[in-house]
Amino acid sequence: MNVIDTVPSPVHLTAEAAPGQPEPTPALEQLYRGFEQEMLVPLWTQIGDLMPLHPKSKAGAHLWRWDRLVQLAEEAGRIVPVGRGGERRAIALANPTLGGRPFATPTLWAAIQYLMPGEDAPEHRHSQHAFRFVVEGEGVWTVVNGDSVRMSRGDFLPQGGWNWHAHRNAASKPMAWIDGLDIPFAYYTESQFFEFGRESLSAAERIQPEYSRSERLWAYPGLRPVSQPGEQPATPLLAYRWVDTDRALNEQLALEAEGCAATLSPGHAAVRYTNPTNGRDVLPTIRTEMHRVRSGARTQTRREVGSSVFQVFDGQGTVTVGDRQWQVRRGDMFVVPSWQAFSAQCDAGQASLDLFRFSDTPIFEAVHAYRVQIDAA
Ligand SMILES: [Fe+2]
Repeated sequence: MNVIDTVPSPVHLTAEAAPGQPEPTPALEQLYRGFEQEMLVPLWTQIGDLMPLHPKSKAGAHLWRWDRLVQLAEEAGRIVPVGRGGERRAIALANPTLGGRPFATPTLWAAIQYLMPGEDAPEHRHSQHAFRFVVEGEGVWTVVNGDSVRMSRGDFLPQGGWNWHAHRNAASKPMAWIDGLDIPFAYYTESQFFEFGRESLSAAERIQPEYSRSERLWAYPGLRPVSQPGEQPATPLLAYRWVDTDRALNEQLALEAEGCAATLSPGHAAVRYTNPTNGRDVLPTIRTEMHRVRSGARTQTRREVGSSVFQVFDGQGTVTVGDRQWQVRRGDMFVVPSWQAFSAQCDAGQASLDLFRFSDTPIFEAVHAYRVQIDAA
C-alpha cells in the first residue's frame, strides 16, 4: 500500500445541476469518485475560479495605521533582541485574506523595521530584491557591500538581490522605517537563496558619510560614469534623496500651473525611481514611485494587473480601494489588490497628499501580462 492510499483525497467534487455543468447522474457521481481517487480535477467544475473574465484577487484591500505599527515596533524594541538567526527586528504586514502568512499581497512583503540606539542588524544576503523607505527619523546607516548609506526622512534605498547588507543605528534614538521585498513571489515560485555574512562590520564600514560611494558615482541626473558601461539588472544607486524627489514633484505641479503637460492628471504629480544604467525600474521585480496629489485634487481611478502597497508619506486624504474607503494620514499603509479600482483625494486645507507606492508591475510587464484601465476623475 502506498502513502496516497492511506491519505484521504484532498479532491472533492460535487455533481451540481447548474448552467454549464453536466447533468447529475449516478454515472457522473461515479466518474467524480474516480477523479477524486486518482487526484484529478476537471476544468468544467473550476473554470469560473481559474479563468475569470478579469483578475479577481483573493487578496483583499487592507489598511494598517502607522501609530499602531510604531507603538508595537517600540514594544518589540524593548523586548526582542536583534541578532543572528532572526536577523532583523522586522514586523511584516499580514494581509488577513492571505491565511496569516506575513505577506502584504500575493507577491510583496512590507514590514516595519526597528533598530535601537547602538544596535547592529547582522550582515546577510538573499536573492530577494529589497528596498528601504524612511517615513520619519534618521540615524541609521545601511551598509551594502561595504558602502555605508545614510537613511533620512523621505529617502528611498533600493538594494538588488544577492548584495551583502547590514544596518547600524549610530544615533541616540531608535529608528523605524519600512522594508519592501518580493519575498512572497520568491516563496511561491520557490526561487530563494540566502547566505549569512560576517558577524560584525569593520571599522572602515562603521563611518557615517553624508553620501555613500554609490551616490558619489551615480547620483548626477543624466550623467553616468564612463568607467561603468553596460546595463545592470538592479540600480547601482543605493539612495534616492528626498530633496530631489520633492523638487521633481513640485516642479511638475508648477509646470502644470504654467500650462505645460507635466502631471499624470490635473493636480496629480508622480515620479518613478529608475535604474540609471537602463532607465527601467530600480529592481527587476518591484516598481517604486512617489505620488503627490495637490490640495483638494483627486487622482483618476486606475485598475492595474498586479498588486501595490502604499505608504502615506505626508498629508491627509481619502483613498478608495474597490469597495473600501479610508481617511489616511502620515505613515498609514494600505494594499491595492490586482484589478481593484484605486483613487486618492487630498483633503482641502492640506498642502498635498504624498503617497509612496511599490508594486510588482515589472513581473507582469516582463511576461507581457500587464494591463491598466484608467477612468477619468
Ligand atoms: Fe535582508
